[in-house]
Amino acid sequence: MSKRDFLSITDISIGELRTILDLAVRPPSSLGRPLDGLGAALIFEKPSNRTRQSMEIAVTQLGGHPVYTRGEEIQFDVREPVEDVARTLAGYHGVICARVFRHAVVERLAAASSVPVVNMLSDTSHPMQALADVLTMEQVHGSLAGAVIAWVGDFNNVARSLGEVSVMLGAHIRYASPAGYGPSDAELARLGALGPGTAASVSAPLDAVSGAIAVHTDTWTSMGQESEKAARLEAFRGYSVTSDLMSHADPSAGFYHCMPAYRGVEVDAAVMDGPMSRAIQQGHNRLHSSRALLAFLMGVRA
Ligand code: CP
Ligand code: NVA
Repeated sequence: MSKRDFLSITDISIGELRTILDLAVRPPSSLGRPLDGLGAALIFEKPSNRTRQSMEIAVTQLGGHPVYTRGEEIQFDVREPVEDVARTLAGYHGVICARVFRHAVVERLAAASSVPVVNMLSDTSHPMQALADVLTMEQVHGSLAGAVIAWVGDFNNVARSLGEVSVMLGAHIRYASPAGYGPSDAELARLGALGPGTAASVSAPLDAVSGAIAVHTDTWTSMGQESEKAARLEAFRGYSVTSDLMSHADPSAGFYHCMPAYRGVEVDAAVMDGPMSRAIQQGHNRLHSSRALLAFLMGVRA
């Protein structure tokens, strides 16, 4: 079997996505120890809480040894080329995982590595988060086929990966973003072609959440965009997820946030910490979906 990478959700088929979600709800020990005797390189150019912690535990549950390394130590293309890092680490590890500023870096790692490469967040995608997002929504709501999912806020890495996975599972995702911060028409067309679901832009948050079974948001200022923070706070005025906005969603709707969350900015504390919030469940599911993804890449199937 040739090695598989996971740089974005589109690296797996709809059937493979289903397999990974099924593996995620199995007892950890039933997946065996596919990383037995192997390392897992976990390289972080940006801070992390959930991703680092859940990946270290997932690797250990699969019998492997996680090696956490800060980006400052590796210094891609400064201390040595990305390709030299990939070829060297592939001799120690069963999998190379990286959180990077530029998506091209994980693409170059994957091209040079003989072992699977996993994107733990880039400027364009956060596919590990999307796996936990759909796992959580399925636990809460059941099948997502035909369901309406709302995204209120920035069309960022998390929003893009969530759109990909939602359309693949037959859901209808609606994005409400300020002008200049939403998906392009080409991006919506690309998303819509990924599966039986649909992806659309709407002008107002109210139009996105109406009838939705899940309302998602994320920070308005992603890591690496700190210099834009003041302009973004101004541009996103009116796009906070409030209790009033949630009252227009389906009565069973859940609130979802990948975290870290900024209360009083993209979400009110009453929503983030209220009964509709599924954010902590999402965070916990990062462990289960990551373990499933790593097992899948190491060849574990049903
Ligand atoms: N959601 C997420 O990726 O969290 P961390 O940045 O804390 O890893
Ligand atoms: N969009 C955020 C997600 C953090 C987990 C960022 O890239 O900083």
